[in-house]
Amino acid sequence: MSTVHVFDHPLITHKLSLMRDKKTGPKEFRELLNEISTLMAYEVTRDLPLETVEIETPICKTQTKMLSGKKLAIVPILRAGLGMVDGIMSLVPAAKVGHIGLYRDPQTLEPVEYYCKLPSDAQDREILLVDPMLATGGSSSAAIGFLKKRGCFNIRLVCLIAAPEGVARIQKDHPDVDIFVAGMDDHLNDHGYIVPGLGDAGDRLFGTK
Ligand code: PRP
Ligand code: URA
Repeated sequence: MSTVHVFDHPLITHKLSLMRDKKTGPKEFRELLNEISTLMAYEVTRDLPLETVEIETPICKTQTKMLSGKKLAIVPILRAGLGMVDGIMSLVPAAKVGHIGLYRDPQTLEPVEYYCKLPSDAQDREILLVDPMLATGGSSSAAIGFLKKRGCFNIRLVCLIAAPEGVARIQKDHPDVDIFVAGMDDHLNDHGYIVPGLGDAGDRLFGTK
């Protein structure tokens, strides 16, 4: 069974509350998502392996530690996942970025794929799949399925807000994928929106409504 990590850091919680507020406009919404993504990246990468290397300081040679092992790829689920990329990249600038285009059919709530472009060595990378909203879990589950079909099996799912239904879906479909969220919400409404949530993340990010 995958692990769910819920970040209760006061800075993350405070910024998330500002994002939830319907009076927060797209500019501030984008900035907050960017900032929270950076804070989350710090925790999501906590267990990355280190190796001992020798360097020379201005004083002497010394043994110290640097990142080793698999390199990272950040894969946003379009559209709203795009809002999390820069914040994570500010901590791991060498990461490559892939894109998966999915939208949720408003009638069936089923995900429809319209784009997929991954780094050529994605299979050798640790993938951070990012999407602010984990609602029914259909989109994230499908995206993880696409990644696995293309040979990527080291995947962490990073979301801003999750509903219990979405978490249960990922744990059932992909028990090998750990989930990282800034807020665990209460339930989904009849239209598949997270309650209390923040509304439609893509629309709020890009001002399309
Ligand atoms: C939103 C969100 C997730 C999905 C979550 O995207 O960004 O991708 O819904 O819902 P689910 O867990 O029930 O699948 P949406 O389909 O609205 O597309 P958009 O990002 O292009 O607005
Ligand atoms: N997608 C969103 O953008 N918001 C929700 O609450 C659910 C799905």
